[in-house]
Amino acid sequence: MLFDTHVHLNAEQFEEDRAEVIKRAQEEGVEYMVVVGFDEKTIRGALEIAEENKKIYAAVGWHPVDAIEMTDQHLHWLEELASHPKVVALGEMGLDYHWDKSPKDIQKDVFRKQIRLAKKVNLPIIIHNREASQDIVDILKEEEAGKVGGIMHCFSGSVEIAKACLEMNFHISFGGPVTFKNAKKPKEVAVEVPLDRLLIETDCPYLSPHPYRGKRNEPAYVSLVAQQIADLKGMSLEQLAKQTTENAKKLFNIL
Ligand code: NI
Repeated sequence: MLFDTHVHLNAEQFEEDRAEVIKRAQEEGVEYMVVVGFDEKTIRGALEIAEENKKIYAAVGWHPVDAIEMTDQHLHWLEELASHPKVVALGEMGLDYHWDKSPKDIQKDVFRKQIRLAKKVNLPIIIHNREASQDIVDILKEEEAGKVGGIMHCFSGSVEIAKACLEMNFHISFGGPVTFKNAKKPKEVAVEVPLDRLLIETDCPYLSPHPYRGKRNEPAYVSLVAQQIADLKGMSLEQLAKQTTENAKKLFNIL
């Protein structure tokens, strides 16, 4: 039984065959998923999919790349959605210094506003971090985000950054990149993360694991991520699957 904690089944890449993709995931033992929405369109898509599928949940937030487009109305809307029965987290949110569509100060402001909202509605947060590790850690600390905790999604930082996040009550989630042959850092981090703070994800349709690198990713492939981490931890796939599923259900408050 597997839990893919980060999917974008709401992406247009799945428009044609979403039902088949979900079926393939179930056949591969992927019982639970969280569909992540990060702007108006993808949030609506995430809610629709979660409403139609019993064991698929939604996370809603505003992506740092598009921070410049988030209005006060959007923030109010997120607050309303927080009480939707299938919404289990806020995000993805965070900082992305790879793209310069939104200036850094606006990204930080939008990130802080969403952390404050998460504390108000008491939901965990899902963090997107690209080339911004230190600023992310600083803001999480300053805003006392540890009160709600959450997920460092598709973690690619150092062992030191991972430890700082673990200290603040965050879980570390690994995706396809941990399976790449040259992925030394994520493998090192995976070994260090305590079992009760580990999560797995695909971030599909992006970041396919080996041997599907470069092709469209889908939730069924989360088993490849699980197998890689089980190997690194010296445990069976079944044990790893059971532990990470329990971790995710507890974090998302799914009974
Ligand atoms: Ni994502």
